[in-house]
Amino acid sequence: MIPATVKLNSKSVFLSQPYQPALADTDELVGRLDESRDVLAAWVAQPRFPRLCPLLVGDAGVGKNRLVYELARYTDKELYILQGHEDVTAEDLTCAVRFSDDAERKMDYVLSPLATAMLRGGICFIDEIGKLRPRALAPLASVLDERRYLDSVLLGERIHAHRGFAFIAATNGSDLVGGTLPEFIGSRLRPVIEVGYPSRAEIDEIVRRRFPRLERPAPASDRLISRFWQLWRDERGDQPPSPRDTLYLFGLMLNLVDAEGAPPGEVLLEAPAAPAPPDMRHLEAAFRRLFGRKE
Ligand SMILES: Nc1ncnc2c1ncn2[C@@H]1O[C@H](COP(=O)(O)OP(=O)(O)OP(=O)(O)O)[C@@H](O)[C@H]1O
Ligand SMILES: [Mg+2]
Repeated sequence: MIPATVKLNSKSVFLSQPYQPALADTDELVGRLDESRDVLAAWVAQPRFPRLCPLLVGDAGVGKNRLVYELARYTDKELYILQGHEDVTAEDLTCAVRFSDDAERKMDYVLSPLATAMLRGGICFIDEIGKLRPRALAPLASVLDERRYLDSVLLGERIHAHRGFAFIAATNGSDLVGGTLPEFIGSRLRPVIEVGYPSRAEIDEIVRRRFPRLERPAPASDRLISRFWQLWRDERGDQPPSPRDTLYLFGLMLNLVDAEGAPPGEVLLEAPAAPAPPDMRHLEAAFRRLFGRKE
């Protein structure tokens, strides 16, 4: 059980809450063995040499978050996520204050996902780190090198990382092109691990695991999947689809089947217990809606 608050420097401080991905047993991670090994190797703690802090770099929807969720599962650690954007401040990275719901107090201190992971020995994942401004990133410098502490001006406290603490960040390749990650952070985020596009066989497997409904009967789903690849090639040429693109396409295709089969006048918000099978029409309509050129 994760406590809601802890005492720091005689102040009662709220903790961030970890993220627990709701992954079905059938929906296993496909591939990514090399990337997983690279991260786990970076996270081996040597005596007097702390874990390295890897940076995942890859295009939108290729599976960076998914890889981190899986690593949290393998290592059985709590996962604390901080979503990067332009308005994140240095306080958001350490400790913030908010108006309290408690009539006895005016303000509550709230520890960031980073500070909470450091105290609890969990994983801190900063997503889209390339979007943070250099000023906001400043407190990270002492966390990522061997000092492993975080200073909070608000609390007047130095938070030292628990031995179990591990760090990882992710960014879209295009956010790095403009050189948005300052050198003092970039040089501490090592190794850089490229997360590329899965192969066609892996993409097919991702779709089948997410939508077990496509399995039966197999020849029909094989035909739908190969038609998808044909449409994709015609529309996008050599640019590969991401797992997200493909999951959205097959998800929308199934939605179109279910919406079509709904009794007249009924609003359908959940898939029916005995759904109809999809056919090419549904696949092509979903493809046009998601990826077709605007006329
Ligand atoms: N190897 C994989 N096995 C199974 N599912 C995957 C895999 N890779 C990605 N997915 C699924 O594809 C979708 C998109 O992945 P994810 O959100 O992790 O991408 P991302 O790289 O973090 O994207 P963004 O840059 O937009 O944040 C998710 O539903 C994820 O579960
Ligand atoms: Mg992501």
